[in-house]
Amino acid sequence: VYDEWRAALAEVLPAGDDEPVLDVGAGTGIWSAAIATWFAARVVAVEPSAAMRTQARSKELPATVALVAGAGEAVPLRTASCRAAWLSTVIHHLADLRACAVELRRVLRTGGPVLIRSSFPGRQDEIPLFDFFPGARRVAETFPTVEQTERAFAAAGFTLEDLRRVHEARGVDPSTLVDRLRAMRRSDSTLVGLADDEFAAGLAEVERFVAEGRPIPPTGLDLLVFD
Ligand SMILES: C[S@@+](CC[C@H](N)C(=O)[O-])C[C@H]1O[C@@H](n2cnc3c(N)ncnc32)[C@H](O)[C@@H]1O
Repeated sequence: VYDEWRAALAEVLPAGDDEPVLDVGAGTGIWSAAIATWFAARVVAVEPSAAMRTQARSKELPATVALVAGAGEAVPLRTASCRAAWLSTVIHHLADLRACAVELRRVLRTGGPVLIRSSFPGRQDEIPLFDFFPGARRVAETFPTVEQTERAFAAAGFTLEDLRRVHEARGVDPSTLVDRLRAMRRSDSTLVGLADDEFAAGLAEVERFVAEGRPIPPTGLDLLVFD
């Protein structure tokens, strides 16, 4: 998990009290664990996939992280019970972005921000992965745009407060990169649909890059803040 996000979140996460931070589509819980640790926060990790929840449970998350079944459109928590919501690379998975915005308006206390970590169409210029796999970029260009996301959240009563780029500067470990990409090929929504020969061509390009000792530049993703 990237330290740059710690600095970015420190600026926008409301100061600590007992209300939890909601991690929507928490996956295996890496961000829940980071937020709980960085900010001494309680976190409720909502995740619809039983397989993901099983993986998260196997990782011994901090005791302040509660893992629950649910989805962005149906959060099993009381009205005005959370101090902020975090959605990391999740909004393109949502069946209904507007319904999620309405649900987050319900569970967040007044002024509680929605913090979205994502890549957005037209803003994919700092994602090295997409330079190797142009087909992955084409998939990501179909994700919700900033404007669509803003419209969905505005309809639920939120205001766009900030859009900023966060650079994940920690270098990619070249010795594990190819294995990581093979694993991502099975689960990452921008890679799963690529034809075998297209994926192989991208992987060969990555291998050539690594063999030449060329560093992979940092990835830049966006932080979108609504409150
Ligand atoms: C790319 S993963 C991101 C996981 C985690 N947030 C992270 O950044 O490591 C997307 C996650 O969204 C979950 N998801 C899919 N549909 C969802 C929905 N309607 N509401 C909430 N999460 C959903 C998936 O099960 C998956 O765990």
